[in-house]
Amino acid sequence: MKAIEIRNKYLKFFENHGHKIIPSAPVIPENDPSVLFTTAGMQPLVPYLLGEKHPSGTRLTDFQKCVRTNDIDEVGDNRHLTYFEMLGNWSLGDYFKDESISMSYEFLTKELGIPSEKLSVTCFAGDKDCGRDNVAFEAWKRAGIPEERIYFFEKDDNWWIAGEEGPCGPDTEMFYDTGKEKCSPECNPACGCGKYVEIWNNVFMEFYKDKNGYTKLKQQNVDTGLGLERMTMLLQGKETPFEIELFAPVMEKLVKLQKEDLIQSRRIVAEHLRSSMMIINDGGRPSNVDRGYILRRLLRRMTRHLNKLGIDLNILSEIIDTSIEALKELYPELDTNREVIKSVIIGEKDKFIKTLQNGEREFEKVASKTKNAGKKVIDTDAVFNLYETYGFPPEMTEELAKEQGLEVDMSDYQKLFAEHQEKSRMGSEQKFKGGLASTGEMETKYHTATHLLNAALKVVLGEHVHQKGSNITAERMRFDFSHGAKMTDEEKQKTEDLVNEYISKNIPVERMEMKKEEALALGAEAMFLDKYGDIVTVYKIGDVSIELCGGPHVSSTGELGHFKIKKEEASSAGVRRIKAILD
Ligand code: SER
Repeated sequence: MKAIEIRNKYLKFFENHGHKIIPSAPVIPENDPSVLFTTAGMQPLVPYLLGEKHPSGTRLTDFQKCVRTNDIDEVGDNRHLTYFEMLGNWSLGDYFKDESISMSYEFLTKELGIPSEKLSVTCFAGDKDCGRDNVAFEAWKRAGIPEERIYFFEKDDNWWIAGEEGPCGPDTEMFYDTGKEKCSPECNPACGCGKYVEIWNNVFMEFYKDKNGYTKLKQQNVDTGLGLERMTMLLQGKETPFEIELFAPVMEKLVKLQKEDLIQSRRIVAEHLRSSMMIINDGGRPSNVDRGYILRRLLRRMTRHLNKLGIDLNILSEIIDTSIEALKELYPELDTNREVIKSVIIGEKDKFIKTLQNGEREFEKVASKTKNAGKKVIDTDAVFNLYETYGFPPEMTEELAKEQGLEVDMSDYQKLFAEHQEKSRMGSEQKFKGGLASTGEMETKYHTATHLLNAALKVVLGEHVHQKGSNITAERMRFDFSHGAKMTDEEKQKTEDLVNEYISKNIPVERMEMKKEEALALGAEAMFLDKYGDIVTVYKIGDVSIELCGGPHVSSTGELGHFKIKKEEASSAGVRRIKAILD
């Protein structure tokens, strides 16, 4: 079965079971700008898991495009991916464990035809925060899984939360038995030996965790996630995702083009290319910060490995075409945006080649210094610095050193590298934490202020102003918008006064649901049109503002306090950025 068939079967199955199909959110989250990427299907749905009403109802199903970059450096092995698609079905206070488990079992065995004997499942063993999940246990038995293939594990294995705070709960996970020998008599689904492969995770989200501990949510939710690539691989009897139709054509092309036979490099190229295309397609661009930096790393690592394979970098455009052909059935938007995707990737490749040239110059300096000091070995710090500052790979440093009769000291390299990795990992976890937890009172106020600012800018600067991005913390807001010139002091003052005037009028903020066409006919602002379903949520603030938006918002503008613009600056070509506070 091809990936597209599995996806279609999944959505159809849940549609037949009363679920509404909702579109995937972009991999770059729009309501949660402090998060780097959408990492799970539940992320765009957090407000609804917490109790807000979803315009499409209480039973939803979707495929979600996800990017997880904590393990970038693991890609190249036989399983890690930075981009993947997660199929999900959702109960927002509707069905709970019994129905969720019986539907999962039916889908796996009847729709996908997986023999029941191939399935093992795990449930939550219970602790002081939440009891042993006997309900899930009974439901699995009723479905047809015998007791000896139902395992119980602690929070480490059978509890799901995104980051440190947020909606969470015990989960039940489904495993596919590959038929390999048990690695030991104790071997079980929690063992990493590869006999058991996790295929689906149903989270019973009825708790909320914050720094004080766990509380019950208003409603009992179900959040499930099934990794599309992995399921496709198993059903096709393949050992790695790189052998399925989404990657195989690129892998084969690389084999034809390569001068060196390096399987890891081929995987890295194929995987990072796909991930980068998906990020670029949703508006990501390479830069030196945050998600732009991750995209840059992906593209540079890809270029380096093309180099390692000995592939002429001028053929990149053809390789991109091959990848788009393999993916366009799942993501037709890649085909539509082919030219933009190509120009971003090739532009970054060209920049990287320049960086490599700078790196070589720096290397020359390091090499002569080493020789002048009468040494024969380039020390680890210098090798690492070349990597970190110039993106100059240690293999290349080593190769160049050899040509000059020098060696490199790699003894501490791994240690430095691990420290560096840990720092960036901590950085992204920090982000994630901030993002999902950020539905506090101040963030909500800033969210409403964003709508007022958007409206005020249209009055002061003109109707060409549209939101291009935003970033909110409890301390401040940042707002990017389309406008070609620096704002004058007078324009800034007028904008600030106008927002404060809207606030002082204490205008009620109304939440409405309507058809997308109706909302657009009313002139509602919408930043990402494609991602909304047919029925949309609209926030209207008197006759000042009307926007498609997931919320949350304050109930009337008077709650915001005093609005102040702190800074106005360029963000990118044709886009300005305002930083502002409420005090
Ligand atoms: N949120 C869970 C996961 O990401 C299930 O969708 O695995």
